[in-house]
Amino acid sequence: MEKIVSLCKRRGFIYPGSEIYGGLKGTWDYGPLGGELKFNLKQEWWKTMVKERDDVVGFSGSILMNSKVWEGSGHMQNFTDPLVECKICHQRFRTDQEDAIKEHEKEHGKKASWTEPKRFNLLVEAKLGVVEGEKNTTYLRGEITQGVHVNFKNILNSSRLKIPFGVAQIGKAFRNEITPGNFTYRSVEFEQMELQYYVKPDEKESMKQYDYFKKIRMDWYKNLGIKKENLRFREHKKDELAHYARAAWDIEYKTPFAAPDSEASWKELEGIHHRGDWDLLRHQQFSGQDMNYFDENPLISGKEKFIPWVIETSGGIDRAILFFLIDAYCEEAERTILKLHPKLAPYKVAVFPLLKNKPDLVKKADGIYKELKKYFNVAWDDRGNIGKRYFSQDEIGTPFCITVDFETLENNTITVRDRDSMKQTRIKIEEIKSYINDKLT
Ligand code: GAP
Repeated sequence: MEKIVSLCKRRGFIYPGSEIYGGLKGTWDYGPLGGELKFNLKQEWWKTMVKERDDVVGFSGSILMNSKVWEGSGHMQNFTDPLVECKICHQRFRTDQEDAIKEHEKEHGKKASWTEPKRFNLLVEAKLGVVEGEKNTTYLRGEITQGVHVNFKNILNSSRLKIPFGVAQIGKAFRNEITPGNFTYRSVEFEQMELQYYVKPDEKESMKQYDYFKKIRMDWYKNLGIKKENLRFREHKKDELAHYARAAWDIEYKTPFAAPDSEASWKELEGIHHRGDWDLLRHQQFSGQDMNYFDENPLISGKEKFIPWVIETSGGIDRAILFFLIDAYCEEAERTILKLHPKLAPYKVAVFPLLKNKPDLVKKADGIYKELKKYFNVAWDDRGNIGKRYFSQDEIGTPFCITVDFETLENNTITVRDRDSMKQTRIKIEEIKSYINDKLT
């Protein structure tokens, strides 16, 4: 982990938030390469969950909402973590963090003692208004979900959607986490990618959809290159189910955060939740607005009305990025490689003139660079020797490097070097675009 954290900072993937002012715990900034990686990951998710489907539409809700939303959703009452406080130094821990509690007890020896567990609400407060004393308290959204449910009727009335259908969203969420940590794994500010899929209130039918979404979400991570031995499903026990969930399975990743292969090394990456009618029914009760869906039913005269059930897939973008980076990181002989899937890699290709001081080579390479930039994110490097340039690109996951050499000037061919195999292939300049495109599909 130390090596990954250091690489992230050194090469511009992820920096600690507000670093020059001493930081802000649980916040992170994405640098030039991290920003690209995040963008690519979101694009892949949107492609699979929205663009390639006929039954899902996109949505983008606001972060700030009327505080009554959070009463309706149950977050004011139930969105809590149980925590204990050390009576000596007042440090707080979640009660399920047994290892950290034991570690802390060792520091204080026999004197260690704890308060009774207390519930701590995770919603982050925000004050709105300009006049001191008259400011309204609201909350930064604790999950991106509620924007979709409170707009259920707006979405229905402005589209021609018929159940079953889904609404997909990507956006920031905020939680007053008691113990942020493990790099970006548990942050105060993070991004989620979610699908809210509305189905008929039918046990058998909804479970069929639930199993289907479990599978497509797991396949998504595998298809983008996470090793299958590092992924698993885990079902939530009855006593750990969130207040809205009838059933929940997590997709978990085997992290290096705890002893290798220990149970504690498996950490949540994404949750697949059966939310039943919790959200729409609660918002109907709290807002007084009708949240029923009206279905044409040829078997009965007129329309059938019901509150739909919801199957949710809820993934963390920052966690996904962290786990993709951990899974891709490897060291071989004298090089470090990020074996990121080409679809995720910040740069798809790098272009090098063999020698910096030969204007013909530089001009030719620059032409190729500019042409490829129309289609891909392309890196340019003319420093040092070719070997060093290759290693520098390997470390940030660039899948292909193109070198323009003297033979290029004679016959318009270049060498393409593959990141993982280090194999070099000589191809015609006009073939480069389709060569890279093939690897991106
Ligand atoms: N709408 C359902 C929901 O929010 P969740 O299991 O609380 O469910 C979904 O969160 C995902 O959001 C998690 O699987 C995780 O990837 C991500 N996530 C949750 N809390 C996080 C945090 N403090 N830091 C980073 N990611 C977090």
